[in-house]
Amino acid sequence: MIVLGIETSCDETAASVIEGKGDSVRILSNVVSSQIEIHKKYHGVVPEIAAREHILNILPVINETIEKSGIYSPRIARREPPLPRRGLKKIDAIAVTTGPGLITSLIVGVETAKTLACVWQLPVVAVNHIEGHVYANFIGKEKIKFPALILTVSGGHTMLILMKGHGKFQTIGETRDDAAGEAFDKAAKLLGLGYPGGPAVSKMAAEFKGTGEIILPRPMLNDPNFDFSFSGLKTALLYKIQKDKDWRKRVPEYCREFERAVVETLVGKAIKAARKYNVKTMMLSGGVSANLVLREEFQNAVAKIGVACHIPPLEYTTDNAAMIAAAGYFRARKKTFTPWQKLKADSNLEFK
Ligand code: KG4
Ligand code: ZN
Repeated sequence: MIVLGIETSCDETAASVIEGKGDSVRILSNVVSSQIEIHKKYHGVVPEIAAREHILNILPVINETIEKSGIYSPRIARREPPLPRRGLKKIDAIAVTTGPGLITSLIVGVETAKTLACVWQLPVVAVNHIEGHVYANFIGKEKIKFPALILTVSGGHTMLILMKGHGKFQTIGETRDDAAGEAFDKAAKLLGLGYPGGPAVSKMAAEFKGTGEIILPRPMLNDPNFDFSFSGLKTALLYKIQKDKDWRKRVPEYCREFERAVVETLVGKAIKAARKYNVKTMMLSGGVSANLVLREEFQNAVAKIGVACHIPPLEYTTDNAAMIAAAGYFRARKKTFTPWQKLKADSNLEFK
């Protein structure tokens, strides 16, 4: 089955074509047009600007991904019927992120998917963005054993998800305030670093080679639940630098300790949950899973408890449409389609 994925929940305009067969998914093309450079000067995503950029980029990005995929191309700009030419495969379904995310950004992807579904007469799968991040782990993999535990860490979410099968999810823990990526972004701002904060903090942290004296808390690490809280960690960092008149000279050390505090908390809680729920597989997903220290610590800790470990390739950690198409394929297999007339963007879409 060939699936066209569309993702516009935040500041990346993305489209991808994948081929799903049985339990495996193969990428035919994956195009991401990032707006990072545009939002950098505002130290965060400006929704109005993001939406305008999505409108300008969405059709060229979809056209490019279809061209690159090598499937039959019902070119958007031409009046060609969507019939397969001999030997070329055609799109069987469209998968689009309907939420959660910025409503003005989501609407662009959703309305585009509706238009294409209506014109090309294709079924549509509504994909939850968080489910998309989870499925980044299924790209190019054969059978993954369930139950699996997924640590999903992005700019908007920090969750521990128990997955008992395709489409069978239970959230066993989540952040009570800031998401891990949001904490990185806020820490970067406090320390005068660039946007997005995660890569900036992590780059600076790698420059610190000493043992270090700064100690930040590991929030809720020893609590008897699987929830997280990162806003106190950011405040603890703020109080430390307010009391340290030389903090500007010690930015790499602050970054190293901040990164360690986030990583130790995330990995510690994930391992505790894996033990409690006796899972067979552990996975990492979301933009923060691009963090090299987190990837390494997670893999090492999972190896110690003798459970299978999957980490998405770097290109599928931050927002992309391949993961949306992959999640869409597993739902399309079960014919979980939404008539295009009923498709709706929902910024607070619940994950279940
Ligand atoms: O998944 P994503 O692309 O968008 C959301 O769904 O939120 O995640 C973006 C988040 C940002 O907060 C960014 O700072 C963080 O992921 N991030 C990182 C790294 N790369 C991206 N955080 C820590 N270390 C990184 N290397
Ligand atoms: Zn995301």
